[in-house]
Amino acid sequence: MTRAKSVYRCNECGAEAPKWTGWCAACEASGSMVEGPATPAYASAAVGLFGPGASTPAVPIAEAAGGGIAPRPTTIDEVDRVLGGGLVPGSVTLLGGEPGVGKSTLLLQVASAVASSGGRCLYVTAEESAQQVAARAERLGTLAPGLWLAAESLLPNVIGLVDDVKPDVLVLDSVQAMVDPSMGSTAGSLAQVRGCAHMLVNEAKRRGLTVVLVGHVTKEGGLAGPKVLEHVVDTVLSFEGERHHALRLLRATKHRFGSTHELGLFEMGEGGLAGVPDPSALFLADRQPGIPGSVVAPVLDGQRPLLVEVQALVVPSQAPLPRRTAQGVDLGRLSQVLAVLERWAGLTLSRAEVHVAVAGGVRVREPGADLAVALAVASSLVDRPLPVGLVACGEVGLGGELRQVHRTDRRLSEAVRLGFETALVPASAPDGPAGLRLDRVRSLRAALAASLLMGEGPGNSPGPARGRDR
Ligand code: TYD
Ligand code: MG
Repeated sequence: MTRAKSVYRCNECGAEAPKWTGWCAACEASGSMVEGPATPAYASAAVGLFGPGASTPAVPIAEAAGGGIAPRPTTIDEVDRVLGGGLVPGSVTLLGGEPGVGKSTLLLQVASAVASSGGRCLYVTAEESAQQVAARAERLGTLAPGLWLAAESLLPNVIGLVDDVKPDVLVLDSVQAMVDPSMGSTAGSLAQVRGCAHMLVNEAKRRGLTVVLVGHVTKEGGLAGPKVLEHVVDTVLSFEGERHHALRLLRATKHRFGSTHELGLFEMGEGGLAGVPDPSALFLADRQPGIPGSVVAPVLDGQRPLLVEVQALVVPSQAPLPRRTAQGVDLGRLSQVLAVLERWAGLTLSRAEVHVAVAGGVRVREPGADLAVALAVASSLVDRPLPVGLVACGEVGLGGELRQVHRTDRRLSEAVRLGFETALVPASAPDGPAGLRLDRVRSLRAALAASLLMGEGPGNSPGPARGRDR
Protein backbone atom coordinates (compact mmCIF):
# COMPACT_ATOMS: atom_id res chain seq x y z
CA MET A 1 0.00 0.00 0.00
CA THR A 2 1.35 3.43 -0.88
CA ARG A 3 1.18 6.23 1.61
CA ALA A 4 -1.16 9.11 0.62
CA LYS A 5 0.94 11.87 -0.89
CA SER A 6 1.34 14.93 1.31
CA VAL A 7 2.52 18.46 0.68
CA TYR A 8 3.29 21.56 2.69
CA ARG A 9 0.73 24.32 2.35
CA CYS A 10 1.04 27.96 3.39
CA ASN A 11 -1.44 29.07 6.03
CA GLU A 12 -1.36 32.57 4.67
CA CYS A 13 -1.69 32.28 0.91
CA GLY A 14 -2.42 28.61 0.29
CA ALA A 15 0.66 28.04 -1.90
CA GLU A 16 1.95 24.47 -1.91
CA ALA A 17 5.50 23.15 -1.73
CA PRO A 18 6.82 19.57 -1.84
CA LYS A 19 9.25 20.18 1.06
CA TRP A 20 8.98 22.05 4.33
CA THR A 21 10.58 25.49 4.32
CA GLY A 22 10.82 28.11 7.05
CA TRP A 23 8.98 30.66 4.96
CA CYS A 24 6.58 30.58 2.04
CA ALA A 25 8.22 31.10 -1.34
CA ALA A 26 5.01 32.59 -2.74
CA CYS A 27 4.01 35.20 -0.15
CA GLU A 28 7.14 35.26 2.03
CA ALA A 29 5.20 34.65 5.25
CA SER A 30 7.44 33.05 7.80
CA GLY A 31 6.65 29.83 9.66
CA SER A 32 3.38 29.42 7.77
CA MET A 33 4.02 26.09 6.00
CA VAL A 34 2.05 23.14 7.41
CA GLU A 35 1.84 19.55 6.21
CA GLY A 36 -1.38 18.31 4.64
CA PRO A 37 -2.69 15.94 1.97
CA ALA A 38 -1.98 16.90 -1.61
CA THR A 39 -4.88 18.24 -3.67
CA PRO A 40 -5.43 15.89 -6.63
CA ALA A 41 -4.79 17.74 -9.88
CA TYR A 42 -8.29 17.14 -11.24
CA ALA A 43 -9.89 18.51 -8.09
CA SER A 44 -7.87 21.69 -7.95
CA ALA A 45 -8.65 22.34 -11.60
CA ALA A 46 -12.36 21.79 -11.13
CA VAL A 47 -12.79 23.85 -7.99
CA GLY A 48 -13.65 27.42 -8.76
CA LEU A 49 -15.28 26.75 -12.10
CA PHE A 50 -17.79 23.99 -11.59
CA GLY A 51 -17.49 23.10 -7.94
CA PRO A 52 -15.59 20.09 -6.61
CA GLY A 53 -15.75 16.93 -8.65
CA ALA A 54 -18.20 18.05 -11.33
CA SER A 55 -17.33 17.46 -14.96
CA THR A 56 -18.79 18.86 -18.17
CA PRO A 57 -18.62 17.30 -21.63
CA ALA A 58 -16.82 19.07 -24.46
CA VAL A 59 -19.08 20.45 -27.20
CA PRO A 60 -18.39 21.83 -30.68
CA ILE A 61 -17.67 25.53 -30.22
CA ALA A 62 -20.50 26.60 -32.55
CA GLU A 63 -23.02 24.83 -30.29
CA ALA A 64 -21.70 26.67 -27.27
CA ALA A 65 -21.82 30.03 -29.06
CA GLY A 66 -24.70 32.42 -28.53
CA GLY A 67 -25.49 31.05 -25.11
CA GLY A 68 -24.06 34.12 -23.40
CA ILE A 69 -26.19 35.62 -20.67
CA ALA A 70 -27.24 39.21 -21.29
CA PRO A 71 -26.05 41.78 -18.81
CA ARG A 72 -28.60 43.37 -16.54
CA PRO A 73 -28.42 47.18 -16.61
CA THR A 74 -27.77 48.80 -13.26
CA THR A 75 -29.55 51.86 -14.75
CA ILE A 76 -26.60 54.02 -13.64
CA ASP A 77 -25.37 55.07 -17.08
CA GLU A 78 -21.71 55.58 -16.24
CA VAL A 79 -21.51 52.15 -14.58
CA ASP A 80 -23.33 50.45 -17.46
CA ARG A 81 -21.00 52.14 -19.94
CA VAL A 82 -17.93 50.66 -18.23
CA LEU A 83 -19.53 47.22 -17.91
CA GLY A 84 -20.74 47.19 -21.51
CA GLY A 85 -24.43 47.13 -20.54
CA GLY A 86 -24.60 46.07 -16.93
CA LEU A 87 -23.85 43.27 -14.48
CA VAL A 88 -23.90 39.76 -15.94
CA PRO A 89 -25.97 37.31 -13.83
CA GLY A 90 -23.74 34.73 -12.15
CA SER A 91 -20.66 36.90 -12.47
CA VAL A 92 -18.34 38.19 -9.79
CA THR A 93 -17.04 41.74 -9.96
CA LEU A 94 -14.36 43.22 -7.76
CA LEU A 95 -14.42 46.98 -7.19
CA GLY A 96 -11.02 48.24 -6.07
CA GLY A 97 -10.07 51.68 -4.86
CA GLU A 98 -8.30 53.55 -2.11
CA PRO A 99 -10.10 54.12 1.17
CA GLY A 100 -12.40 57.13 0.96
CA VAL A 101 -12.64 57.26 -2.82
CA GLY A 102 -16.33 56.37 -2.70
CA LYS A 103 -16.63 52.60 -3.25
CA SER A 104 -19.32 52.10 -0.60
CA THR A 105 -21.24 55.11 -1.89
CA LEU A 106 -21.10 53.88 -5.49
CA LEU A 107 -22.24 50.37 -4.62
CA LEU A 108 -25.05 51.60 -2.39
CA GLN A 109 -26.27 53.70 -5.31
CA VAL A 110 -25.86 50.77 -7.72
CA ALA A 111 -27.70 48.39 -5.37
CA SER A 112 -30.49 50.88 -4.93
CA ALA A 113 -30.78 51.53 -8.67
CA VAL A 114 -30.98 47.79 -9.39
CA ALA A 115 -33.58 47.39 -6.64
CA SER A 116 -35.61 50.30 -8.01
CA SER A 117 -35.68 48.71 -11.44
CA GLY A 118 -37.20 45.45 -10.25
CA GLY A 119 -34.12 43.53 -9.02
CA ARG A 120 -33.61 42.25 -5.51
CA CYS A 121 -30.38 43.37 -3.84
CA LEU A 122 -28.61 42.38 -0.66
CA TYR A 123 -25.99 44.82 0.60
CA VAL A 124 -23.75 43.22 3.22
CA THR A 125 -21.46 45.53 5.14
CA ALA A 126 -18.61 44.02 7.09
CA GLU A 127 -16.97 47.33 7.93
CA GLU A 128 -19.71 49.71 8.96
CA SER A 129 -22.81 49.24 11.09
CA ALA A 130 -26.18 48.71 9.43
CA GLN A 131 -27.29 52.03 10.96
CA GLN A 132 -24.40 53.89 9.32
CA VAL A 133 -25.19 52.46 5.90
CA ALA A 134 -28.93 53.00 6.32
CA ALA A 135 -28.37 56.61 7.39
CA ARG A 136 -26.27 57.19 4.28
CA ALA A 137 -28.91 55.56 2.11
CA GLU A 138 -31.57 57.77 3.65
CA ARG A 139 -29.51 60.89 3.05
CA LEU A 140 -28.87 59.86 -0.56
CA GLY A 141 -32.54 59.02 -1.08
CA THR A 142 -31.73 55.42 -1.97
CA LEU A 143 -34.13 53.56 0.36
CA ALA A 144 -35.50 51.30 -2.38
CA PRO A 145 -37.96 48.61 -1.22
CA GLY A 146 -36.06 45.79 -2.94
CA LEU A 147 -32.80 46.68 -1.19
CA TRP A 148 -31.89 44.54 1.81
CA LEU A 149 -29.17 45.37 4.27
CA ALA A 150 -27.13 43.34 6.74
CA ALA A 151 -24.02 43.96 8.82
CA GLU A 152 -22.20 40.62 8.74
CA SER A 153 -18.61 39.51 8.37
CA LEU A 154 -18.90 35.72 8.68
CA LEU A 155 -19.08 34.16 5.23
CA PRO A 156 -21.32 31.18 6.17
CA ASN A 157 -23.83 33.65 7.63
CA VAL A 158 -23.71 35.68 4.42
CA ILE A 159 -24.55 32.52 2.44
CA GLY A 160 -27.44 31.96 4.89
CA LEU A 161 -28.67 35.51 4.21
CA VAL A 162 -28.54 34.82 0.48
CA ASP A 163 -30.73 31.74 1.08
CA ASP A 164 -33.23 33.89 3.01
CA VAL A 165 -33.33 37.02 0.88
CA LYS A 166 -32.72 35.34 -2.52
CA PRO A 167 -31.21 38.45 -4.08
CA ASP A 168 -30.32 38.94 -7.74
CA VAL A 169 -27.33 41.01 -6.72
CA LEU A 170 -25.16 40.60 -3.63
CA VAL A 171 -22.82 43.43 -2.63
CA LEU A 172 -20.09 42.57 -0.12
CA ASP A 173 -18.23 45.47 1.45
CA SER A 174 -15.42 44.46 1.77
CA VAL A 175 -13.90 41.12 0.83
CA GLN A 176 -10.93 41.84 3.11
CA ALA A 177 -13.24 42.06 6.11
CA MET A 178 -14.91 38.69 5.38
CA VAL A 179 -14.03 35.66 7.50
CA ASP A 180 -14.65 31.99 6.95
CA PRO A 181 -14.10 30.36 10.36
CA SER A 182 -13.70 26.92 8.75
CA MET A 183 -10.36 28.10 7.40
CA GLY A 184 -7.69 28.02 10.04
CA SER A 185 -5.85 31.14 9.04
CA THR A 186 -6.29 34.55 10.59
CA ALA A 187 -8.92 37.04 9.44
CA GLY A 188 -7.69 39.32 6.68
CA SER A 189 -4.91 36.92 5.65
CA LEU A 190 -4.35 36.08 2.01
CA ALA A 191 -5.68 32.59 2.53
CA GLN A 192 -8.90 33.95 4.05
CA VAL A 193 -9.46 36.52 1.34
CA ARG A 194 -8.76 34.00 -1.38
CA GLY A 195 -10.84 31.29 0.26
CA CYS A 196 -13.81 33.64 0.70
CA ALA A 197 -13.54 34.81 -2.90
CA HIS A 198 -13.40 31.21 -4.20
CA MET A 199 -16.47 30.28 -2.21
CA LEU A 200 -18.37 33.33 -3.45
CA VAL A 201 -17.43 32.57 -7.05
CA ASN A 202 -18.79 29.04 -6.62
CA GLU A 203 -22.01 30.35 -5.08
CA ALA A 204 -22.38 32.95 -7.83
CA LYS A 205 -22.05 30.34 -10.60
CA ARG A 206 -24.24 27.80 -8.86
CA ARG A 207 -27.09 30.21 -8.13
CA GLY A 208 -26.77 32.61 -11.06
CA LEU A 209 -26.20 35.23 -8.39
CA THR A 210 -24.43 38.47 -9.30
CA VAL A 211 -21.77 39.26 -6.73
CA VAL A 212 -19.97 42.57 -6.35
CA LEU A 213 -17.04 42.65 -3.94
CA VAL A 214 -15.29 45.70 -2.57
CA GLY A 215 -11.52 45.36 -2.38
CA HIS A 216 -9.22 47.89 -0.75
CA VAL A 217 -6.24 49.05 -2.67
CA THR A 218 -2.90 49.76 -1.08
CA LYS A 219 -0.89 52.93 -1.63
CA GLU A 220 1.17 51.15 -4.27
CA GLY A 221 -2.04 50.66 -6.23
CA GLY A 222 -2.33 46.86 -5.95
CA LEU A 223 -5.40 45.26 -4.48
CA ALA A 224 -4.21 44.81 -0.91
CA GLY A 225 -2.59 41.41 -0.71
CA PRO A 226 -5.13 39.54 -2.83
CA LYS A 227 -3.67 40.11 -6.25
CA VAL A 228 -4.87 36.52 -6.50
CA LEU A 229 -8.45 37.79 -6.49
CA GLU A 230 -8.01 39.33 -9.89
CA HIS A 231 -7.66 35.86 -11.40
CA VAL A 232 -10.66 34.46 -9.56
CA VAL A 233 -13.25 37.09 -10.47
CA ASP A 234 -14.78 37.86 -13.87
CA THR A 235 -14.45 41.62 -13.75
CA VAL A 236 -12.12 43.99 -11.95
CA LEU A 237 -13.18 47.61 -11.73
CA SER A 238 -11.01 50.36 -10.40
CA PHE A 239 -12.34 53.55 -8.86
CA GLU A 240 -9.97 56.49 -8.71
CA GLY A 241 -9.84 60.17 -8.01
CA GLU A 242 -7.56 62.91 -6.79
CA ARG A 243 -7.98 63.63 -3.11
CA HIS A 244 -8.92 67.30 -3.48
CA HIS A 245 -11.13 66.98 -6.50
CA ALA A 246 -14.70 65.78 -6.82
CA LEU A 247 -13.97 63.88 -10.04
CA ARG A 248 -14.06 60.07 -9.84
CA LEU A 249 -13.08 57.72 -12.63
CA LEU A 250 -14.36 54.20 -13.05
CA ARG A 251 -12.66 51.80 -15.41
CA ALA A 252 -12.46 48.06 -15.97
CA THR A 253 -8.97 46.58 -15.76
CA LYS A 254 -10.31 43.09 -16.47
CA HIS A 255 -13.66 42.21 -18.02
CA ARG A 256 -14.55 38.72 -19.22
CA PHE A 257 -17.72 39.99 -20.91
CA GLY A 258 -16.51 42.98 -22.84
CA SER A 259 -14.04 45.73 -23.48
CA THR A 260 -11.81 47.31 -20.87
CA HIS A 261 -11.61 50.56 -22.79
CA GLU A 262 -14.59 52.40 -21.44
CA LEU A 263 -14.34 55.13 -18.86
CA GLY A 264 -17.06 56.15 -16.43
CA LEU A 265 -16.98 59.58 -14.83
CA PHE A 266 -18.63 60.80 -11.67
CA GLU A 267 -18.58 63.79 -9.39
CA MET A 268 -18.76 63.24 -5.66
CA GLY A 269 -21.05 65.77 -4.07
CA GLU A 270 -23.53 66.33 -1.26
CA GLY A 271 -25.97 63.89 -2.79
CA GLY A 272 -23.43 61.14 -3.42
CA LEU A 273 -22.03 60.32 -6.86
CA ALA A 274 -23.50 61.95 -9.93
CA GLY A 275 -22.60 60.79 -13.44
CA VAL A 276 -20.80 63.25 -15.70
CA PRO A 277 -22.26 62.71 -19.17
CA ASP A 278 -20.32 65.59 -20.76
CA PRO A 279 -16.90 65.70 -19.09
CA SER A 280 -15.28 67.95 -21.71
CA ALA A 281 -17.84 70.68 -21.04
CA LEU A 282 -17.24 70.25 -17.32
CA PHE A 283 -13.45 70.47 -17.61
CA LEU A 284 -13.60 73.58 -19.77
CA ALA A 285 -16.36 75.35 -17.84
CA ASP A 286 -14.04 77.58 -15.78
CA ARG A 287 -11.48 78.16 -18.48
CA GLN A 288 -10.53 81.74 -19.30
CA PRO A 289 -9.48 81.85 -22.94
CA GLY A 290 -6.85 84.34 -23.90
CA ILE A 291 -4.53 83.75 -20.94
CA PRO A 292 -0.92 82.90 -21.77
CA GLY A 293 0.02 79.35 -20.76
CA SER A 294 -3.36 77.75 -21.44
CA VAL A 295 -3.94 75.18 -24.18
CA VAL A 296 -6.83 72.81 -24.79
CA ALA A 297 -5.90 69.24 -25.68
CA PRO A 298 -8.19 66.44 -26.84
CA VAL A 299 -6.94 63.42 -24.92
CA LEU A 300 -8.17 59.86 -24.81
CA ASP A 301 -8.91 57.85 -21.70
CA GLY A 302 -9.71 54.33 -22.80
CA GLN A 303 -11.91 55.03 -25.81
CA ARG A 304 -13.41 58.17 -24.34
CA PRO A 305 -12.25 61.48 -25.79
CA LEU A 306 -11.91 64.28 -23.27
CA LEU A 307 -11.03 67.89 -23.84
CA VAL A 308 -8.78 69.08 -21.05
CA GLU A 309 -7.08 72.38 -20.34
CA VAL A 310 -3.32 72.12 -19.94
CA GLN A 311 -1.87 75.07 -18.05
CA ALA A 312 1.72 76.13 -17.65
CA LEU A 313 3.38 78.83 -15.62
CA VAL A 314 6.99 79.74 -16.33
CA VAL A 315 8.74 82.18 -14.00
CA PRO A 316 12.40 83.23 -13.78
CA SER A 317 14.48 81.50 -11.13
CA GLN A 318 17.96 81.97 -9.71
CA ALA A 319 18.07 78.46 -8.30
CA PRO A 320 20.78 76.16 -9.65
CA LEU A 321 18.08 73.53 -10.25
CA PRO A 322 14.84 75.42 -10.89
CA ARG A 323 11.66 73.71 -9.77
CA ARG A 324 9.50 71.69 -12.13
CA THR A 325 6.10 70.51 -10.98
CA ALA A 326 3.58 68.44 -12.88
CA GLN A 327 -0.03 67.80 -11.90
CA GLY A 328 -2.03 65.44 -14.06
CA VAL A 329 0.90 64.77 -16.40
CA ASP A 330 3.93 62.64 -15.82
CA LEU A 331 6.94 64.58 -14.52
CA GLY A 332 9.34 62.51 -16.63
CA ARG A 333 7.27 63.26 -19.73
CA LEU A 334 7.31 66.98 -18.87
CA SER A 335 11.12 66.98 -18.51
CA GLN A 336 11.36 65.34 -21.91
CA VAL A 337 9.14 67.97 -23.54
CA LEU A 338 11.17 70.75 -21.88
CA ALA A 339 14.39 69.24 -23.19
CA VAL A 340 12.95 69.14 -26.71
CA LEU A 341 11.86 72.78 -26.40
CA GLU A 342 15.43 73.74 -25.43
CA ARG A 343 17.21 71.64 -27.97
CA TRP A 344 14.95 71.91 -31.03
CA ALA A 345 12.97 75.09 -30.56
CA GLY A 346 15.65 77.29 -29.06
CA LEU A 347 13.76 78.12 -25.87
CA THR A 348 15.82 78.81 -22.76
CA LEU A 349 14.20 77.15 -19.80
CA SER A 350 17.19 76.35 -17.61
CA ARG A 351 16.75 79.62 -15.68
CA ALA A 352 13.05 79.18 -15.15
CA GLU A 353 10.68 77.45 -12.81
CA VAL A 354 8.13 75.45 -14.78
CA HIS A 355 4.77 74.37 -13.42
CA VAL A 356 2.34 72.36 -15.52
CA ALA A 357 -1.14 71.26 -14.49
CA VAL A 358 -4.15 69.67 -16.10
CA ALA A 359 -7.21 71.47 -14.77
CA GLY A 360 -10.08 69.61 -13.11
CA GLY A 361 -8.22 66.73 -11.46
CA VAL A 362 -7.74 64.78 -14.69
CA ARG A 363 -4.66 62.61 -15.10
CA VAL A 364 -3.36 62.26 -18.64
CA ARG A 365 -1.55 58.96 -19.15
CA GLU A 366 -0.81 59.15 -22.85
CA PRO A 367 1.47 61.19 -25.11
CA GLY A 368 -1.40 62.96 -26.94
CA ALA A 369 -1.06 65.97 -24.65
CA ASP A 370 2.70 66.45 -25.32
CA LEU A 371 2.14 69.17 -27.90
CA ALA A 372 -0.30 71.01 -25.63
CA VAL A 373 2.21 70.86 -22.76
CA ALA A 374 4.95 72.25 -25.00
CA LEU A 375 2.73 75.04 -26.34
CA ALA A 376 1.52 75.95 -22.86
CA VAL A 377 5.10 76.25 -21.60
CA ALA A 378 6.18 78.32 -24.63
CA SER A 379 3.09 80.52 -24.39
CA SER A 380 3.76 81.27 -20.73
CA LEU A 381 7.45 81.87 -21.39
CA VAL A 382 6.83 84.45 -24.12
CA ASP A 383 3.72 85.74 -22.35
CA ARG A 384 1.55 85.44 -25.42
CA PRO A 385 -1.78 83.60 -25.48
CA LEU A 386 -2.66 81.01 -28.07
CA PRO A 387 -5.49 81.73 -30.50
CA VAL A 388 -8.93 81.29 -28.97
CA GLY A 389 -10.66 78.28 -30.53
CA LEU A 390 -7.47 76.26 -30.97
CA VAL A 391 -6.83 72.71 -29.77
CA ALA A 392 -3.48 70.95 -30.01
CA CYS A 393 -2.96 67.23 -30.31
CA GLY A 394 0.18 65.21 -30.90
CA GLU A 395 3.18 63.41 -29.46
CA VAL A 396 6.50 65.25 -29.32
CA GLY A 397 9.41 63.09 -30.45
CA LEU A 398 12.94 63.48 -29.11
CA GLY A 399 14.02 64.81 -32.49
CA GLY A 400 11.62 67.71 -32.21
CA GLU A 401 9.21 66.05 -34.65
CA LEU A 402 5.47 65.70 -34.10
CA ARG A 403 3.85 62.31 -34.25
CA GLN A 404 0.29 61.32 -34.72
CA VAL A 405 -1.50 59.74 -31.76
CA HIS A 406 -4.02 56.95 -31.50
CA ARG A 407 -7.61 57.82 -32.58
CA THR A 408 -6.94 61.38 -33.67
CA ASP A 409 -10.32 61.32 -35.48
CA ARG A 410 -12.25 60.76 -32.26
CA ARG A 411 -10.37 63.50 -30.51
CA LEU A 412 -11.01 66.01 -33.27
CA SER A 413 -14.73 65.19 -33.37
CA GLU A 414 -14.91 65.98 -29.69
CA ALA A 415 -13.16 69.32 -30.32
CA VAL A 416 -15.71 70.26 -33.00
CA ARG A 417 -18.58 69.25 -30.75
CA LEU A 418 -17.37 71.74 -28.16
CA GLY A 419 -17.08 74.53 -30.68
CA PHE A 420 -13.34 74.58 -31.41
CA GLU A 421 -12.39 75.84 -34.86
CA THR A 422 -8.74 74.99 -35.41
CA ALA A 423 -6.61 72.00 -34.51
CA LEU A 424 -2.85 72.01 -34.55
CA VAL A 425 -1.91 68.45 -35.52
CA PRO A 426 1.06 66.45 -36.82
CA ALA A 427 1.49 66.42 -40.59
CA SER A 428 0.37 62.78 -40.86
CA ALA A 429 -2.95 63.31 -39.06
CA PRO A 430 -6.07 62.07 -40.85
CA ASP A 431 -8.60 64.52 -42.24
CA GLY A 432 -10.61 66.21 -39.56
CA PRO A 433 -14.38 66.47 -39.23
CA ALA A 434 -16.33 69.18 -41.07
CA GLY A 435 -16.13 72.52 -39.37
CA LEU A 436 -12.59 72.08 -38.06
CA ARG A 437 -9.61 73.64 -39.78
CA LEU A 438 -6.49 71.50 -39.47
CA ASP A 439 -3.14 73.20 -39.20
CA ARG A 440 -0.65 70.45 -40.01
CA VAL A 441 2.90 70.86 -38.74
CA ARG A 442 5.90 68.56 -38.87
CA SER A 443 7.89 69.86 -35.94
CA LEU A 444 7.44 71.42 -32.57
CA ARG A 445 9.26 74.47 -33.86
CA ALA A 446 6.75 74.80 -36.71
CA ALA A 447 3.92 74.40 -34.21
CA LEU A 448 5.26 77.31 -32.17
CA ALA A 449 5.54 79.41 -35.32
CA ALA A 450 1.99 78.60 -36.36
CA SER A 451 0.32 79.19 -33.03
CA LEU A 452 2.46 81.73 -31.20
CA LEU A 453 4.02 83.41 -34.25
CA MET A 454 7.43 82.56 -32.85
CA GLY A 455 9.98 82.87 -35.63
CA GLU A 456 11.41 79.74 -37.17
CA GLY A 457 13.27 81.10 -40.16
CA PRO A 458 17.05 81.26 -40.53
CA GLY A 459 18.69 83.94 -38.42
CA ASN A 460 15.78 84.16 -36.05
CA SER A 461 17.25 81.95 -33.44
CA PRO A 462 20.56 80.16 -33.58
CA GLY A 463 20.80 76.47 -32.88
CA PRO A 464 19.91 73.15 -34.37
CA ALA A 465 16.35 74.15 -35.22
CA ARG A 466 17.50 76.45 -38.01
CA GLY A 467 16.04 75.81 -41.40
CA ARG A 468 13.76 72.93 -40.44
CA ASP A 469 10.80 72.69 -42.76
CA ARG A 470 7.22 72.56 -41.62
P1 TYD B 1 -17.05 56.01 0.86
O1 TYD B 1 -18.07 55.55 -0.11
O2 TYD B 1 -17.26 55.66 2.29
O3 TYD B 1 -15.59 55.54 0.42
P2 TYD B 1 -14.91 54.09 0.45
O4 TYD B 1 -15.97 53.08 0.64
O5 TYD B 1 -14.21 53.96 -0.87
O6 TYD B 1 -13.92 54.10 1.56
O7 TYD B 1 -16.97 57.59 0.67
C1 TYD B 1 -15.99 58.30 1.32
C2 TYD B 1 -16.02 59.77 1.09
O8 TYD B 1 -17.00 60.26 0.21
C3 TYD B 1 -16.24 60.44 2.41
O9 TYD B 1 -15.01 60.99 2.79
C4 TYD B 1 -17.25 61.49 2.19
C5 TYD B 1 -17.53 61.48 0.74
N1 TYD B 1 -18.95 61.57 0.46
C6 TYD B 1 -19.48 62.72 -0.08
O10 TYD B 1 -18.76 63.68 -0.35
N2 TYD B 1 -20.81 62.79 -0.38
C7 TYD B 1 -21.63 61.76 -0.10
O11 TYD B 1 -22.86 61.86 -0.36
C8 TYD B 1 -21.09 60.57 0.47
C9 TYD B 1 -21.96 59.41 0.81
C10 TYD B 1 -19.74 60.51 0.73
MG1 MG C 1 -16.27 51.81 2.28
